[in-house]
Amino acid sequence: MSLQKEIDRRKTFGIISHPDAGKTTLTEKLLLFGGAIQEAGAVKSNKIKKGATSDFMEIERQRGISVATSVLAFEYDGIKINILDTPGHKDFAEDTFRTLTAVDSVIIVIDVAKGVEEQTEKLVEVCRMRNIPMIVFVNKLDREGKDAFELLDEIEQKLHLKVTPLSFPIGMGYDFKGIYNIWEKNVNLFSGDSRKNIEETIEIEDLANKELDELIGEKASETLREELELVEGIYPKFDRVAYLAAELQPVFFGSALNNFGVRELLDCFIQIAPKPQPKSSNTRLVKPEEKEFSGFVFKIHANMDPKHRDRLAFVKIVSGTFERNTNYMHVRNGKKMKFSSPNAFFAEKKQIVDVSYPGDIVGLHDTGNFKIGDTLTEGEEMKYKGIPSFSPEFFKYINNADPMKSKQLEKGIDQLMDEGVAQLFTLELNGRKVVGTVGALQFEVIQYRLEHEYGATCRYENLNVHKACWVEPKDPKSDEFKDFKRVKSKFLAKDKRGQLVFFADSAFTLQMTQSKYPNVKLHFVSEFEKNEKAKA
Ligand code: G4P
Repeated sequence: MSLQKEIDRRKTFGIISHPDAGKTTLTEKLLLFGGAIQEAGAVKSNKIKKGATSDFMEIERQRGISVATSVLAFEYDGIKINILDTPGHKDFAEDTFRTLTAVDSVIIVIDVAKGVEEQTEKLVEVCRMRNIPMIVFVNKLDREGKDAFELLDEIEQKLHLKVTPLSFPIGMGYDFKGIYNIWEKNVNLFSGDSRKNIEETIEIEDLANKELDELIGEKASETLREELELVEGIYPKFDRVAYLAAELQPVFFGSALNNFGVRELLDCFIQIAPKPQPKSSNTRLVKPEEKEFSGFVFKIHANMDPKHRDRLAFVKIVSGTFERNTNYMHVRNGKKMKFSSPNAFFAEKKQIVDVSYPGDIVGLHDTGNFKIGDTLTEGEEMKYKGIPSFSPEFFKYINNADPMKSKQLEKGIDQLMDEGVAQLFTLELNGRKVVGTVGALQFEVIQYRLEHEYGATCRYENLNVHKACWVEPKDPKSDEFKDFKRVKSKFLAKDKRGQLVFFADSAFTLQMTQSKYPNVKLHFVSEFEKNEKAKA
């Protein structure tokens, strides 16, 4: 098959949701449709379960699972689908943000009873910023929940989306009768049999058809007719161009657990979702159909066996074909590298592949050469953009608790930071190391992994930082910037890439600093082409 054909038949996407909305269940049902798994219950949840074990032991368990579920690939109707897994726990939000740099579209799962929840709001905001096409799946229709119109309203208000339903529920909870598929113009009746894999759909081209009354009863048909009339009046017609431009989001209703409404979602998804998209590098826009291979690392996974320190770097292929045993250039360190056993993913299995195409993810064994965001090419000097660091929420000094093991500690911290577990800052004044994380749990994870994988012990010391801001002086030689550096010297640090960072201890300090030094810009994100200023 030609490169173009391989590109055209690929869809790489992520499923995002608030924990418990049904992401794992939906993933599993999609895999069932693809024949990639044979039974329900095969996909393990990557959720952090509260309970018997301590949180960080639970994280270790979750880490084991998430190697297996990082990429779930399957074929459906001639289309190669790559689902990129995103962690559900909010403390791992940064991981999810990074994964979102490697998807071409997303499906958002919303619980019909709970509506739009906090985690969903944050993730959708990132997708909106990046103009990622989104489809919404309202789940758990077999339970009592919010009225469909109310929910669509909430989605528009809270997620700032413009929606158009492509299916519509007939009743809900106890009265749930099925869905009307606006996209395919048919009715799918719900039987409540959760083991049923194949749904029966009944073509209803014309809603006035009396057959509808016989199928779902007169009252329900009357309501459905009225509701669909309202839908037509209120919501715009589906327009693929607008969807691809992230200006319109189609909505589907169903019940993942009952495998209901999932086929409709999948059938529409493979028709409308984008194929692998071009990506900006620091020098140019790279198109998937270019002959030369290029890709970038969006995730690094440490080996679960503490004795072997090799890691798996997940590379999204942006252009050309990636081939086994071929020399590629690791742009950041200027080295040529060859990979003898690149892994591709199929359902939950890894296998060595000879060739991969744009949209695919390959897992490369790494002994410490890769950092998140690294670019691989056939020799071209360019770097893919778009894996920024965000200001952490929690900050602590990290100290060595065992002077005999300082080398191990240094190496351990270095590698864990490359994996993206947390961010490391070095204070300008005294060289002390500060770890910044998105969630409090990460401190435990770091301590545990340093001990078990590197034989090093660390102690933390509290540090009061409200936000870390990346500093961008208008003129690095100006007196204003010199003054800023002198006055704020106690609060300045370098991040791992050597960029200057200002630790503001409060929102007030941040405001004051900005007004005193208007030509020294402070950003909450490490990549700041957009020149957006930090807000207190
Ligand atoms: P997540 O990955 O988004 O966190 O959610 P997950 O799929 O694990 O689903 C969370 C809970 O919601 C699970 O129940 C799951 O069975 C249930 N669920 C998912 N889809 C539906 C649906 O369409 N209808 C109903 N009624 N429930 C649904 P649990 O009790 O937490 O876990 P389990 O013991 O059933 O696995």
